[in-house]
Amino acid sequence: MKDASPQTIYLEDYTPFGWRIAEVHLTFRLAPHATRVLSRIRFDPAPDAPEQDFFLHGEDLTLIRAAIDGAEITPALSPQGLRCAVPDGSFTFETEVEIAPAANTALEGLYMSNGMYCTQCEAEGFRKITYYPDRPDVMATFTVRIEGTEPVKLSNGNPGGSGNGYAEWHDPWPKPAYLFALVAGDLVNHPGSFTTMSGKEVALNIWVRPGDENKCAWGMESLIASMRWDEKVYGREYDLDVFNIVAVDDFNMGAMENKGLNVFNSSCVLASPETSTDANFERIEAIIAHEYFHNWTGNRITCRDWFQLCLKEGLTVYRDSQFTSDMRSPEVKRIGDVIDLRARQFPEDQGPLSHPVRPESFQEINNFYTATVYEKGAEVIGMLKRLVGDDAYAKALDLYFDRHDGQACTIEDWLAVFQDSTGRDLTQFKRWYSQPGTPHLSVTEDWQDGTFTLTFAQHTPGQPDAQPQVLPIAVGLLGPNGDEVAPTRVLEMTETRQSFAFDGLGARPVPSILRGFSAPVVLERATSASEKSFLLAHDTDAFNRWEANRDLARACLEAMVTEGTEPDDAWLGALEQVVRDDTLDPAFRALMLALPTQAEMAQHLHANGVTPDPDALYAASESLGNAMAARWSGWLGDLRAACTVDAPYDPGAGQSGKRALGGALLALLTRLDGGAAAQAQFDAADNMTLQLGALGCLVHAGTEHAALARFAEQWRGDRLVMDKWFALQVAATAPENAATRAEALTRHPDFDWKNPNRFRAVFGSLAMNHAGFHARDGRGYRLLADWLIRLDEKNPQTTARMCSVFQTWRRYDNARQALMKAELERLAAKPGLSHDVTEMVTRLLG
Ligand code: PHE
Ligand code: ZN
Repeated sequence: MKDASPQTIYLEDYTPFGWRIAEVHLTFRLAPHATRVLSRIRFDPAPDAPEQDFFLHGEDLTLIRAAIDGAEITPALSPQGLRCAVPDGSFTFETEVEIAPAANTALEGLYMSNGMYCTQCEAEGFRKITYYPDRPDVMATFTVRIEGTEPVKLSNGNPGGSGNGYAEWHDPWPKPAYLFALVAGDLVNHPGSFTTMSGKEVALNIWVRPGDENKCAWGMESLIASMRWDEKVYGREYDLDVFNIVAVDDFNMGAMENKGLNVFNSSCVLASPETSTDANFERIEAIIAHEYFHNWTGNRITCRDWFQLCLKEGLTVYRDSQFTSDMRSPEVKRIGDVIDLRARQFPEDQGPLSHPVRPESFQEINNFYTATVYEKGAEVIGMLKRLVGDDAYAKALDLYFDRHDGQACTIEDWLAVFQDSTGRDLTQFKRWYSQPGTPHLSVTEDWQDGTFTLTFAQHTPGQPDAQPQVLPIAVGLLGPNGDEVAPTRVLEMTETRQSFAFDGLGARPVPSILRGFSAPVVLERATSASEKSFLLAHDTDAFNRWEANRDLARACLEAMVTEGTEPDDAWLGALEQVVRDDTLDPAFRALMLALPTQAEMAQHLHANGVTPDPDALYAASESLGNAMAARWSGWLGDLRAACTVDAPYDPGAGQSGKRALGGALLALLTRLDGGAAAQAQFDAADNMTLQLGALGCLVHAGTEHAALARFAEQWRGDRLVMDKWFALQVAATAPENAATRAEALTRHPDFDWKNPNRFRAVFGSLAMNHAGFHARDGRGYRLLADWLIRLDEKNPQTTARMCSVFQTWRRYDNARQALMKAELERLAAKPGLSHDVTEMVTRLLG
């Protein structure tokens, strides 16, 4: 039962819970439609908590009995929970409730996925399992008994006893309820082991459904690499005898860091060369690391309340990005992260969903697992590290772990650690946590008597109250011949306007500004195309080399769209030099070849005061792609041939970089040969990267019919590969087909719309087909809204997340704005709309 009026929760209203919990005992009697959950909890009054009612969260529970110190009571029940009178001192509280996991389609709490039981409790799902103070600052040790006929029964911590029809688990580390997990089913394990730095042996397992055993090796390798890395780089050791990972097919998010029992969306852990692309392998490696790293940043030190979400997520994303940089190429990782930040976080921060890294209010916390909290949250940590330096960062982190182990903390605690260990005043820096919006940084230059001066100005559009931020601006200088005359130096900007001088220079230099994307800002700089080409050719900073190219590509597309010009010859000449430079990493060259997406161009035009026309952007991208292919026809084939990998498949950076470059070249070749080379690659492919890459080219060329059918035939039984099949044909097709295809696919017998991966495969891809989604007649918008309305009844959380594809609606022309607004209003008017979606739609329209 939903409460009629959603409540807004405020950070400033935080009050501690009035009791402490020494220990929680849970017994689960599993049954699909009538699982019984018995709980026994010891409550002790908290010494300095303000006086309050005894209230426990509980939703969708059928209370069977409740007792205090063994005496039955009749508590007052509401749709949010339970209230009752309690003794003055300590007491034992017991309840028995009934829940129906088989009827739980929201995938929050205890639910079933393909016959197996699993849980998802972050953020507030535990209250759908039993009555409990479901807030992260209440930490307790859990002892869990699971009764059921399932052969495998898992929970957090270390195994206790097990026998006929039951298994027991004990987690010695106090944890909040959101880290609770239970899994039961017919599962098989891929085992491994790890010896920690102090010589403790840890048993590792990846649990999967029978048939998926051959897709676990990479996950295990990634887990072991993560455990080793966290010991080496952060000095963090694992703290239980076992570490279990379970793959689940129906999951709203990527994965979950439950203590000792991580639950993964199967798409984020299962991999084999035949069924997974290089990008899948890299993502799995990163997500395994992310969840594992949470054991310290999230679990041992958790959040006081959900406003502090970035405390664990920003830091853990930052840590997993460091890990990937170490495992692969730091330059390529950084460029990929910035592409992602601009594609997902910038639109959020610059539109109606804008919120600070630490929000100050929310209605539904599930709506705040955002790119701002995660990715901008990680950028803020990267800036902090740049400002204090690597050694001071390491010392601060040691202090953080020392001081706060076992606690539920705030951003204030986090910053105090840095203040105390470095002596630096972080009052102004803290604005990064409270001010929404993307700062714009403009720069002018001056050259006089051997002194070069850069003058910066910052402001945050759409945020009239914004105060100046602390910006670490990494700058290097290049001499006229392309040599670096001043190595990277981090300028610390704190004012609205500020100048920095470089003296003792023999000639006017060319500055390379914001190296490594040292702050998450929009850099506004009126530089000539020739200066950008100079940086593209000579910058020693790989990120800025890529950025110069990106600037030129955006300018070229913009001129094509707004002035109807031809592609920029000088730029294409400079780009060719880089792409053909065999001394450079193929993965970097592949990134250089990729054009800005049409969504990125729409954002860029909008920022320049031009209303983006999706059809014109599509046409310009196509004609630029064609021009590149025609111009480079002489060498594309040879360079592609040079990218061939002869060795057995390996997902590491070396081979995958070559395949990425080969794939980008194949896309260009397809524009010349109508798909002949792509068809040959498709026919011969022995790994998914090559097979799917070729299929994408065929879809783009419009010659995919036979290949799509063969692909479906080959992979019919594999859910994850079939997700790719559903996704690709919508994402890569010509815009005029996109909505029609998506609609046709919803009638496919394998379109299981209640499975979030499958739903996203079709509709996430529709939204990614920029001109297709924004079809002038509104078909794309209407189709998506129809399905969001339908999905909301089953799964509000996934529906709400998908609503964000409408966040850019105000960028477009009046006709498209009116169409999108009408669909949002239609959603809003739906009787019984979930709180999750109500909040999203209200903010989008607001
Ligand atoms: N805490 C998870 C992570 O970032 C994400 C998640 C949130 C998963 C909510 C499920 C539900 O690792
Ligand atoms: Zn996380």
